[in-house]
Amino acid sequence: MKEELPEYSKSQLALRNGQDKPQIWIAYKGYIYDVGESRLWKNGMHYEHWAGQDLTEELYDAPHSDAVFSRFQVVGILRSL
Ligand code: HEM
Repeated sequence: MKEELPEYSKSQLALRNGQDKPQIWIAYKGYIYDVGESRLWKNGMHYEHWAGQDLTEELYDAPHSDAVFSRFQVVGILRSL
């Protein structure tokens, strides 16, 4: 449930970019996903995109849908303010 997930600010998310902290997280439509297990997000980079940020808008230009998130766990909610 959404209410049970921890909230993170944009700056907390920014540290999970695969460089500053060991975690590799990305936000999509308010949810934060842990993509640390993905070969395709190694070191926080995925094609021209970096982890540690909200990539909701960028997905429109991706060659895939948001079905790619299905195998990843939601670890939190992105705080909107
Ligand atoms: C230029 C933009 C992008 C390119 C060329 C790209 C390319 C790809 C390719 C080729 C795959 C693996 C094949 C597939 O599942 O279709 C993939 C997987 C994935 N992409 Fe992207 N992508 C882009 C943007 C994005 C964005 C903006 C996000 C996040 C909002 C994203 C999230 C993911 C995730 C989570 C996976 C699954 C990784 C896995 O299963 O290990 N991608 N992407």
